[in-house]
Amino acid sequence: MSSAAPKGMDDRLAASASPPLKGIINVPGDKSMSHRALILGGLAAGETRIEGLLEGDDVLRTADAVRALGADVERLGPGHWRVVGAPWRAPDAPIDCGNSGTGARLLMGAVAGLPVEATFIGDVSLHSRPMNRVLDPLREMGAAVESQDGRMPVTVRGGGLTGISFRNLKASAQVKSAIILAGLHADGAVEVIEPARSRDHTENMLRAFGADVEQDGYTIRLGARRALTATDVAIPGDPSSAAFPLVAALVTPRSDVTVEGVMVNPLRAGLFTTLREMGANLEIRNERIAGGEPVADIRARFGPLRGVEVPAERAPSMIDEYPILAVAAAFAEGRTVMHGLAELRVKESDRLAAILAGHKACGVEARDEGDTLIVEGKGAPPRGGGDVAAHHDHRIAMSFLVLGLAACEPVAVDSAAMIATSFPGFTELMRGLGAKIA
Ligand code: S3P
Repeated sequence: MSSAAPKGMDDRLAASASPPLKGIINVPGDKSMSHRALILGGLAAGETRIEGLLEGDDVLRTADAVRALGADVERLGPGHWRVVGAPWRAPDAPIDCGNSGTGARLLMGAVAGLPVEATFIGDVSLHSRPMNRVLDPLREMGAAVESQDGRMPVTVRGGGLTGISFRNLKASAQVKSAIILAGLHADGAVEVIEPARSRDHTENMLRAFGADVEQDGYTIRLGARRALTATDVAIPGDPSSAAFPLVAALVTPRSDVTVEGVMVNPLRAGLFTTLREMGANLEIRNERIAGGEPVADIRARFGPLRGVEVPAERAPSMIDEYPILAVAAAFAEGRTVMHGLAELRVKESDRLAAILAGHKACGVEARDEGDTLIVEGKGAPPRGGGDVAAHHDHRIAMSFLVLGLAACEPVAVDSAAMIATSFPGFTELMRGLGAKIA
């Protein structure tokens, strides 16, 4: 098992009441697309050039993995990478996916399709996360799989797969993607049926690499053309990262922040819909297509927010955004009720528990009822003053730092190094807007 981020004094950060946040910024490239660009590039014939790759730890692990599996992966400059696909071979050592569930699950799927054996390991958090959600369908397709009771280390011996018609009980892009990537080399029909649509970056990118993928309601089906040909991929800004400076601007008095070039694929944009329902002064401007995805500039200005009810159906389109939404809800006037959050218990940490503990430490009234999270906003800045356990979870750390920017008393988080898994440069970028984070 690889070690988690360093613990200790230098890993702590604190945020305190800040002047108005002002500026026009860009955030790093989308994490989901970055993993996929490297994996598809590694499977494709020819040279793929990637612009805007997120150079966070999670994605760098996937780059190392694709290289260890035989592809030529090279960094040409900031965010600019070149991948030359090659027949995959068994890596010399276990593949260490670090903190990344996406990297691990997608790579397991890709390996399952090929006559390759690979063992997957990760950090403490990843070793606690359930893997049977991908291993069961991969087994059904014919892959030989070993795990520790459905947890890592996982060994996949791939090749000789047959098709599958897999009905998932939850919407999960990771599960869908693992099956589709394995299916690229399976014999027979491959389809995944979801209860609701999950993010479709794998499908969109596979089409750009020349494969046939159909979407028919909630069914995703691989077509006959399954060989991948290299292409160039431009990765727009990650909406899940843009969420932090945008919510920071909404809750910090007199702020005005624009994040340019944010991917606004509707299957990722649930937070923006919700914030607007809360009355947020959020403008989505200059919508265009870039890198095959809708992209926009998003301007957030401080103003009052009100509590809302967020339906369970919206969860797949904002699954990573509940920690920061729970922070926005703490500033809103009235109750915010978020339904359908069972999956938050099996993310990088038990995010429901981490949000509740963080809110308690900061004087915010919140509770869970089953898989519903309820936050009572007072329409005024919360007390803050908490020492929040981030549980080595990047999104918990960033969310509570944002809370600290506009709370009455400073908020500290105990482990901030993990922020680099998804948002390298977060602290500097926020400081550049005027945020007091030290
Ligand atoms: C992701 C899918 C989501 C999300 C994760 C990234 C992806 O997970 O939470 O951060 O890139 O496919 P699930 O597939 O488990 O919902």
